[in-house]
Amino acid sequence: WAAFHYHDDRLFAESVSLAAIAEQFGTPCYVYSHAAITAAYQAFEQAFSGREHLICYAVKANSNLTILNLLARLGSGFDIVSGGELHRVLKAGGDPRKTVFSGVGKTREEMRDALEVNVLCFNIESEMELLALNDVAGEMGKVAPVSIRINPDVDANTHPYISTGLKENKFGVPAADAERIYQLARDLPSVRPVGLDCHIGSQLTELSPFIEATRRILDLQARLQSLHITIEHIDLGGGLGIRYDVESPPSRQDYVKALCTEMASTSARLIIEPGRSVVGNAGILLTRVQYLKHLPHRNFAIVDAAMNDLLRPALYQAYHAIQPVVKHEGETQIYQIVGPVCETGDFLGNERALALASNDLLAVMSSGAYGMSMSSNYNSRPRAAEVLVDGDSVRLIRARESIDELCALENIIV
Ligand code: LLP
Repeated sequence: WAAFHYHDDRLFAESVSLAAIAEQFGTPCYVYSHAAITAAYQAFEQAFSGREHLICYAVKANSNLTILNLLARLGSGFDIVSGGELHRVLKAGGDPRKTVFSGVGKTREEMRDALEVNVLCFNIESEMELLALNDVAGEMGKVAPVSIRINPDVDANTHPYISTGLKENKFGVPAADAERIYQLARDLPSVRPVGLDCHIGSQLTELSPFIEATRRILDLQARLQSLHITIEHIDLGGGLGIRYDVESPPSRQDYVKALCTEMASTSARLIIEPGRSVVGNAGILLTRVQYLKHLPHRNFAIVDAAMNDLLRPALYQAYHAIQPVVKHEGETQIYQIVGPVCETGDFLGNERALALASNDLLAVMSSGAYGMSMSSNYNSRPRAAEVLVDGDSVRLIRARESIDELCALENIIV
């Protein structure tokens, strides 16, 4: 969390105190660090040294237009999973020819939009989807570049909800079917196999599953070559974990180096799709304590952010460190940090030792990825504001939603 640090017991984002941000923009508020995003992206970029590669940032991790624009200006490509994400990439100045389109359920309309702007590749997840794309591209008089997403059946050792490369998961096609589907792709008139794709899961904290998956993909590349199907790029997906608590994931550099080593025998371009590891530790959720409730068996700190703002603790029992914005004297007690939403699962942290008073500000750390992008309006709560800090400047990059906006699409039918 280098971008978020204490100075005289006050927590700062780069050179700006979080207390000042809360004062100016209110809470709950997502705060991102320009320097941290830039450093994370560049750490990936530099680790490739001379190797032919493309980083396709996974838009789903954080799809704010300013963040996409920042990454586009750094040279990043994008991994999208919907027409909405394509729209955001284009609007933010991203290059469609550096954009790969993933996801198990692309609609024909989404395919058409992506073909229109010539995305780099469609990552195809089933035979039926391949046939649909062939059809849509044919109607448009185009040939769609495709990879087949292979399910390499490796255990990513991560939370079952974010593990994607096991044979029981819905993602990709079994390696055993791959050759047949690639031959089909080769023979269809309006698709062209150009790549191989996999993604085995998210928040991985060891290298071995990535290495195992890469080996299986390279095996398959060799088998395809003997069928005269030449692969121009290998997309190994995203998934590198970050530190939330005590995890010690490999560094971005070690991760890229390990992939490059495995791929030394092929000249295919290497694509990766990191999301969390680019933005996760570059953001925090700033929230204010409203009430304290000290009960015989448990203490609650009721804050103004909730599961609708940050779903990860409720959905995955995910741990996010929670830090005081201003450290002060007082008795430390053990609190459950909860939001105002009417669900028992609405908590941001359990068993946290903190010295708290009403109106204190807290920072929910490592919230830059899958925070705002998974937020909702549950309980008719307007979504939080988002700000970007760059040195000593703070800019609003998404305004807090208004109640009127929440109702804007509804009609009262009498
Ligand atoms: N590529 C594909 C095809 C993906 O499905 C994903 C994430 C990524 C790349 C980026 O993975 P990352 O580098 O961020 O691990 N909501 C969950 C995470 C879901 C990840 C879904 N796919 C969470 O909050 O932990």
